[in-house]
Amino acid sequence: MSVELHTVAPSAVGAWERGLDRWPVVFAVPKGLEGACAGIARREGQLRLKPLGPGFLQSDKTAAERLAAALRAAPLWSFGSFVLAGKLGEAGDAARAEQALNGAVEAFDLADQPYWLNCPKDESEAARRLGARLLASKTLRLRNVPSDYRLTLRLATVEGEVLLLLGPSISVKERFPYRRDDVGASINPVLAAAMVRLAPPAEGGLALDPTCGSGTLLAERLAFSGEAEALGIDISARAGQAFAANLQDRPGPFRFQLGNGADPELWAPCRTVLSNLPFGIRVRQPREELDALYTGVAKNAARFLVPGGRAIVTSSSKRLLDEAFARARDRLPVLARYRAEMGGLVYQIVVAARS
Ligand SMILES: C[S@@+](CC[C@H](N)C(=O)[O-])C[C@H]1O[C@@H](n2cnc3c(N)ncnc32)[C@H](O)[C@@H]1O
Repeated sequence: MSVELHTVAPSAVGAWERGLDRWPVVFAVPKGLEGACAGIARREGQLRLKPLGPGFLQSDKTAAERLAAALRAAPLWSFGSFVLAGKLGEAGDAARAEQALNGAVEAFDLADQPYWLNCPKDESEAARRLGARLLASKTLRLRNVPSDYRLTLRLATVEGEVLLLLGPSISVKERFPYRRDDVGASINPVLAAAMVRLAPPAEGGLALDPTCGSGTLLAERLAFSGEAEALGIDISARAGQAFAANLQDRPGPFRFQLGNGADPELWAPCRTVLSNLPFGIRVRQPREELDALYTGVAKNAARFLVPGGRAIVTSSSKRLLDEAFARARDRLPVLARYRAEMGGLVYQIVVAARS
């Protein structure tokens, strides 16, 4: 099966073709999955990327036209793609930042475009100070319109340097049009998109999520891979509503089953298992119940996956995950482990293959 670069087209703005020999392209990806995303980029889009710092990849030897395409339409496994307009030291001054940004504005034909400055709270003091000065700038040739913007200026601090990243914005509606409903603990779709690519695409068969919530993992997997059907199980009827709303546009049949994901009666032979298991202070389930759920999911995956089928399972609890997969290791050995971070949460990820 051929794999393409699955992208989302932001509201098009700018002439991204020119100047990519001078300004590298940077992709913002889930922290901890830089290596995995570089592998996905190579396989899916023939993009050669190298790590730039936590949560960022930089273009290496990719042809300019492929980079321009990735700027106009960002890969689903990235939060966005940007040109690296400049790098400033900790003491970098606003005048140099404005000069670098105006150079990129001119080269990419972006003069007077509305932009939003994205400098998250956990960025360095230097980045935040610079952000405040840029917002007050009279010489930057962009308009600060946080309510209706076409460009994002992301300030990120990597190894003591502040990066000036400028790229087309992707609206929430553009990024996940399928997302009509939500449950409290829904996984971020970009993290889900990267996670579901940790196993090669399948042709046909069933994709099953025994703790499906609003169905993000299945929706993102089916956007990438060729499983013919989807089955979501969840103990909450509220999850069933969100699942039905979010999966309705997917090609092929999908089904929700209310009940315990550890119950083998609810499972069916499957090609791929995806799960974001409950854990953490918002989950009030006693430890023994969680233990039974984790063990049941790994055991059912070992039993119901077809030979060669893959399980991609995440939780914040490394201990519960490792113990459950250790019990299933004869039929379902672990191939790889990852540790991603997002929104202050840690996602331990296990990829296992049915032998
Ligand atoms: C972390 S959330 C999954 C969120 C989902 N990935 C999404 O994006 O919406 C965990 C889900 O597990 C469900 N859950 C908890 N215990 C369960 C059980 N024993 N069997 C099936 N589902 C369960 C919860 O209702 C919740 O929807």
